[in-house]
Amino acid sequence: MPVIARIHENQARLAALRHEIHAHPELAFEERRTGDLVAGVLAAAGIEVHRGLARTGVVGVLRAGTGTRAIALRADMDALPIVEQNAIPHRSRHEGRMHACGHDGHTAMLLGAAEYLAATRRFDGTVVFLFQPAEETVGGARVMIEEGLFARFPVEAVFGMHNWPGLPAGQFAVHAGPVMACADQFDISVRGHGAHAAMPHQGFDPLVAGAALVQSLQTIASRNLDPLDAAVVSVTRFHAGDAYNVIPHEARIGGTVRAFRAEVQDAVETAMERLCAGIGAGHGVQVALDYHRGYPPTVNTPAEAEICRTVAAALAGEENVRSDLRPSMGAEDFAYMLKERPGCYVWIGNGLGEGGCMLHNPHYDFNDAILPLGASYWARLAEHLLPLA
Ligand code: NI
Repeated sequence: MPVIARIHENQARLAALRHEIHAHPELAFEERRTGDLVAGVLAAAGIEVHRGLARTGVVGVLRAGTGTRAIALRADMDALPIVEQNAIPHRSRHEGRMHACGHDGHTAMLLGAAEYLAATRRFDGTVVFLFQPAEETVGGARVMIEEGLFARFPVEAVFGMHNWPGLPAGQFAVHAGPVMACADQFDISVRGHGAHAAMPHQGFDPLVAGAALVQSLQTIASRNLDPLDAAVVSVTRFHAGDAYNVIPHEARIGGTVRAFRAEVQDAVETAMERLCAGIGAGHGVQVALDYHRGYPPTVNTPAEAEICRTVAAALAGEENVRSDLRPSMGAEDFAYMLKERPGCYVWIGNGLGEGGCMLHNPHYDFNDAILPLGASYWARLAEHLLPLA
């Protein structure tokens, strides 16, 4: 793998850092031990450290030359509530918590780049290293922004990277435009009138109305949206009743909506409201929709995507940078940062994903072999964006 020699020499140490983080996974906003480790490495490299944003977030600031331009590179630090099934030396020491998404690797790669950039300083301007908490569910990136991230650390663009099982090690994928979807959630309550199951005419059945609603929700993607717009409407919960001979009073339905454009999210919500009202009226039940916006779509800006593609290609070779992969219907809270600043979120190949080595799988483990490539990508990106005069 063609990487920066100085970073390659540091591979064993980067792997050791990664294993240390992997063995001590921490959930959202609890990344204190990880934050201590990150802050310690940054400080030892002579990088200015700021802590406390979004409780456990760590920000490193590195200046070189006289340039006033600034960019941000971001890694995530949190783990998942999963029982690790790997028998590896660095297996999680905390039952029920696991780095099953590779954020241990993301943190180690960005630390490797920070050390390299601090030692070499072959750039002109400011590199801000963002180590954020709580990517998985509660939007640590959003909290950092709300607490003044970009006011305190003004940058012109922001960059992210996620490992991608299924993409061979040594490759990158770069999307100009959407790369991950939004993750909205909905809750629907269907209130009818309970009755004896043998005398359904004496009530209004929320279960039959709910079943009709679940069917109708499937027509949103197929009948209401432009066929060229991708969207998912998945009903994942349907709770009603607990007896064989009772028509219950209420049914509760829930699920998720995924899309790549805000206009599509709006259209889905509007169609859901219309269907809820119509099915409710048709069945004589009261239907209430609660639609919550989750992570927005992650959308790369074309100019920054082209820069990332160029940097990745210079490192890994043109043939190892994919720009033809489809976006994922998964979601990512880096989306909030991309709503504030131009930037790009790339995928780095984690290998083909054999043996259950897929994200959020209890057998997953980040691929140590790609640590130097990821760290080299970050370093070259910073040098490319902030060139010496
Ligand atoms: Ni992740």
